[in-house]
Amino acid sequence: MKVAALIPAAGSGTRLGLGPKAFVEVAGRSLLARSVAALAPHVNEVLVALPEDHALPPGVPARAISGGATRQATVHALLGATDAEVVLIHDAARPFVPAAVIHALRGAADTQGAATAALPVADTLVQAGEGAQHWGQLVPREGLWAVQTPQAFRRELILRAHEAARRSGESATDDAGLVARLGHPVALIPGDARLFKVTTPGDLQLALALAPVWDA
Ligand code: C5P
Repeated sequence: MKVAALIPAAGSGTRLGLGPKAFVEVAGRSLLARSVAALAPHVNEVLVALPEDHALPPGVPARAISGGATRQATVHALLGATDAEVVLIHDAARPFVPAAVIHALRGAADTQGAATAALPVADTLVQAGEGAQHWGQLVPREGLWAVQTPQAFRRELILRAHEAARRSGESATDDAGLVARLGHPVALIPGDARLFKVTTPGDLQLALALAPVWDA
């Protein structure tokens, strides 16, 4: 069974403010290089989608295409660029990917068609009061999971989900959400705190602190 890792890396990184986020370096290696290195040993091919004016840095074992205007458009382009039966979709912005999570996702995609890494929510959740940063309504956290990537799918299923979303004009912040919209079950596979997404300068500090331990 052919498995591909698809890495959307075409975002502009506005919230981090350091240029395209995938190219930001943590302890000498870019977020993109770290994500590719984590996934490559477990798949048959790695495909990366980059901003229009960027090339794949040397030494990154992947094939590159241009991304789209949104993450969803970028993933749709990646899906069209592989013939793999199973795809692992992973945000370049999550550079620390434990092998055990990759294995569990591959297995679940094979047997169930769709699976995502996710973690049960540990914090108290509150809906802010309208128009203000004030406590509004408590949201019970029981049964709530925070969704991460990688997400793994039979390619035929995730392609069908993307095409349905394009037809209806719907969007989602991740790919598993599009599959769920088709009415297809999505397995929740326990992820890992180290799979956090580097979005803000504070996240970058966390990544810098974790990198020496991860690389050791
Ligand atoms: O902006 P955000 O952190 O949610 O982006 C998640 C991932 O999607 C990042 O790896 C980013 O590079 C990618 N992305 C993309 N194409 C876009 C927007 C985001 O590949 N147009």
